[in-house]
Amino acid sequence: MSRRPILAGNWKLNKGTPDEAATLAAEVVAAVAGTTHADVVLCVPYTVLSTVVATTDDSVVAVGAQDAFWKESGAYTGQVSPGMLKAVGVHYVILGHSETRGRYGVAEPDFTDVVLAHFGESDETVNRKTKAVLAQGLVPIVCIGETLSEREQGITDSVIDTQVRGALVGIDADAVSGLVLAYEPVWAIGTGKTCDAAEADRVCGVVRAAVAAFAGDDAATAVRIQYGGSMKPDNAAELLGMPNIDGGLIGGASLKAGDFAAIVAAAK
Ligand code: 13P
Repeated sequence: MSRRPILAGNWKLNKGTPDEAATLAAEVVAAVAGTTHADVVLCVPYTVLSTVVATTDDSVVAVGAQDAFWKESGAYTGQVSPGMLKAVGVHYVILGHSETRGRYGVAEPDFTDVVLAHFGESDETVNRKTKAVLAQGLVPIVCIGETLSEREQGITDSVIDTQVRGALVGIDADAVSGLVLAYEPVWAIGTGKTCDAAEADRVCGVVRAAVAAFAGDDAATAVRIQYGGSMKPDNAAELLGMPNIDGGLIGGASLKAGDFAAIVAAAK
């Protein structure tokens, strides 16, 4: 079965004012116009979701959020629910990003920032959020990945297996089939270090095997697995050409429309 590639830009804490978001989103819309071979998504700050939904209306670009809470309403100051995201035209939600798990691969932000920015994400909260996002008919993009220290200890595969299974607890095989999983080795995020394409493909195979063990072969064949971590125009074609890599989750390079569009084109 051939899986449809999915390329998602993760703007992180950038371009969060209406003017700058509308400008970049319009540039991306123009740069990827006519794309038929892949799904294209922009995951933007909450403050500009409506702006980017409006700017990408009638284009091939869909809009995603970068997190969501698992409750739909209540006394949860600062949280945003999947139903609220759906109501403003969002279709995808990134969950369990290493940055919300408080797992960083770069020296910056410094240690104090890492501790302060630790949002307490765990496999259990990622699982709750995944279920809540699915319940609204949105597509979760669930991130998993090992730190440098875990890689050096030789426990990459077991970390990945635990994170995948932890995210999927209580989710049926049909729903798992429609998910997007993003393998993002933490040490490759924002560091300029890309995981070697063969190794990225091997670990995406570990992700797929974990899905197969949990939800069966059909779900494992259908689920789309992205690679993320310093994906750029000059390494995208090799990564996206790998059999277990079905797309990319792109940080830095998604902030330039031309670079992002070049990565989208590389998925052909
Ligand atoms: P970079 O592409 O900047 O390394 O970020 C990857 C990422 O974290 C996407 O979610």
